[in-house]
Amino acid sequence: MTFSSYQFSHALTRKPGRSVAKGLRDGGTADPDPNIFEIEHAAYVAALKEAGVAVAELPPDEGFPDSVFIEDPALCLRRAAILLRPGAPTRLGERETLRDSLRRFYPKVLDLPEGGFVDGGDILTTEREVLIGLSARTNEAGAEALRPLVEADGRPLRLVNTPPEILHFKTECGLLDEKTIFATEAILASGCFGDYETIACPEGEEAAANLIRVNDQVFLSKGHPKTAELLQDRGYQITELATSQAARVDGGLSCMSLRFTPPKP
Ligand code: GLY
Repeated sequence: MTFSSYQFSHALTRKPGRSVAKGLRDGGTADPDPNIFEIEHAAYVAALKEAGVAVAELPPDEGFPDSVFIEDPALCLRRAAILLRPGAPTRLGERETLRDSLRRFYPKVLDLPEGGFVDGGDILTTEREVLIGLSARTNEAGAEALRPLVEADGRPLRLVNTPPEILHFKTECGLLDEKTIFATEAILASGCFGDYETIACPEGEEAAANLIRVNDQVFLSKGHPKTAELLQDRGYQITELATSQAARVDGGLSCMSLRFTPPKP
């Protein structure tokens, strides 16, 4: 099996705790129900396994209400994993909770130097480059501190802008295959995807744009029939997953796992 930017042998996830009810959110959404969240999260983990991924499941960490969104404090590359510096003050400490887990899979676990901030939700990795969307959580100082670590791993880092109304870059875009990106009109309008092929998210289904490709499957948030039909017509196999509780705290499919293939020793 060869591995590309959407083929993974492993994933790390963290179960939501009771404290997820206090998770960060921008709007006035209701608190997520931890019991329903747990059920939806278990289905997500099962789908990763079904897609051929070995999942290491970490226990809830009540000290960090948003820690179910495990993609934000770290970045898994081909040869190294990087502990990032999440831009929300209540999330900065999450990075340290992942160090030992990442060391099980990566001989090289590096630290983003102090100074700036980067959330993993702002990073879209493709076969040929790593895109980082500047946002309320990721600033230029953080992105520039990340550049040498990413580029030493073999791909250039390219800074783009996340439209200001969007939390994370990947809140509204996702990789479908080597050359194709699915994104909302808001992200597409920024022109950041150059010569990638793009598929526009149907109007009114913007939440569907936070999709992830996992091996042969595209994980898609349930309740987006126009997107489901569009992707199936284009030949993608989709797995629909409920994200009703993650959505209450501005989370979605991409941020609930760190997906990677450990480097060969
Ligand atoms: N609740 C997810 C975040 O704001 O980081």
